[in-house]
Amino acid sequence: MSEPEKKKLKPNDNSAVASSIVSALSSSIAASSTKVNTRNALQKTEDLEQIRKTLLLSLVPSMNDKSDIYNTKQIISLGDKNSNIIREGDLVVFFINHDIMKAEVIKKGHTFDCRFGSFLHENIIGKPFGSKIYSHAEKRPTRRKKEDTTMDNADKKPFVYVLKPTPHLWTLVLKHRTQILYHADISLILTHFKLRPGSVVIEAGTGSGSLSTSISRAIMPNGHLFTFEYHKERYLHAMNEFKNNGLYNITITNGDVCQNGFTPNTTTTPIILSDTLRPKYEPSQILGEDKSGTVDGVFLDLPKPWLCIPNVFRLLRVGGKFCGFSPCIEQIQETANALRQFDFVEIKCVECLVKEYMSNNVEVSTVDHYFKKSDTTTQQTSTTEKRLFSAVPEMKGHTGYLIFATKFQLKE
Ligand SMILES: C[S@@+](CC[C@H](N)C(=O)[O-])C[C@H]1O[C@@H](n2cnc3c(N)ncnc32)[C@H](O)[C@@H]1O
Repeated sequence: MSEPEKKKLKPNDNSAVASSIVSALSSSIAASSTKVNTRNALQKTEDLEQIRKTLLLSLVPSMNDKSDIYNTKQIISLGDKNSNIIREGDLVVFFINHDIMKAEVIKKGHTFDCRFGSFLHENIIGKPFGSKIYSHAEKRPTRRKKEDTTMDNADKKPFVYVLKPTPHLWTLVLKHRTQILYHADISLILTHFKLRPGSVVIEAGTGSGSLSTSISRAIMPNGHLFTFEYHKERYLHAMNEFKNNGLYNITITNGDVCQNGFTPNTTTTPIILSDTLRPKYEPSQILGEDKSGTVDGVFLDLPKPWLCIPNVFRLLRVGGKFCGFSPCIEQIQETANALRQFDFVEIKCVECLVKEYMSNNVEVSTVDHYFKKSDTTTQQTSTTEKRLFSAVPEMKGHTGYLIFATKFQLKE
């Protein structure tokens, strides 16, 4: 871009900057392609083309820059509960340890029973989330491990913690109606989609609602999730759960997205909690055959996601993100082929494997021990107990691959 050209542009005129960069790069591409007809020149042309697309994408403004209407006071927990005090009707997570948790709605006269004890809901009402609650009827476990965290050493009373249900905890306690996504993959998806309050997302299939819950929470209060599930029972279960969990920014449809696209039908149901806690978008504003460029992200967890790519491309805005989850690499291959037939860029595949480390009490020898080898008394007293990290012997294996892509389209 020449200096006089630069001066003509206003400082914030992104599209003008973009088109100047593009035209500068285009002349460079033309020049390079006329020079020598070798593989190197071809590669250079392709690289320049990729740079040109990436530059343009970085200049596309977000459709949902609506931070002015983001009211932080409104939402704190899974749904609309902004109080830190547990009330009757609240959903809480009973946390026994990292492997044993259960979600229940607090009701007077009910108890939460587990093998460690019995916990009256009444004793929980009025307490802050995060409180430690003691059992009213002691049930000592028959075989208690050395480090059992459910028994308070001071008074030997069984206890649990009552936690606020975050999307992360919900994924760990929800009832499985299908295979679900866990937070290793979920966090990658949310980050790749650059989700924030106001984003508009499509998801299929809903399954057990694990991912839906995290998306809904990430885009609250003014964003919206349109989710599709073709299994009637799962659709009904998910709808009830979303309502009970206060996820008022979801609209769920019972339909086959491979056959009918992302089209609303008579089953399309917005989750409405009250006049104020209701979806901000009508399905007809976003979905349907006649719509294009209306959504920021589309996520597919389906056996044949590639069948949906033409509709995904149409509904995504320029710069919008696609992600598909598939257990087999052949499915990923097929999806990538479909993506390449459209103007998608930044196509990449990721397998997310997490190696966990646990902190345990371990007996370690002190440095003293090695310096005073001859002194047997020191040797005996120079071991000390330390809390150290060591790899968990069993690592979770393959669950699936994530394929990511970004929509790119030059103006006609
Ligand atoms: C593995 S589950 C999704 C799990 C979900 N991601 C979660 O985290 O809970 C896949 C779901 O897609 C649904 N499904 C499969 N093909 C579909 C289609 N063509 N249209 C809509 N839903 C479909 C299935 O019924 C199933 O419930």
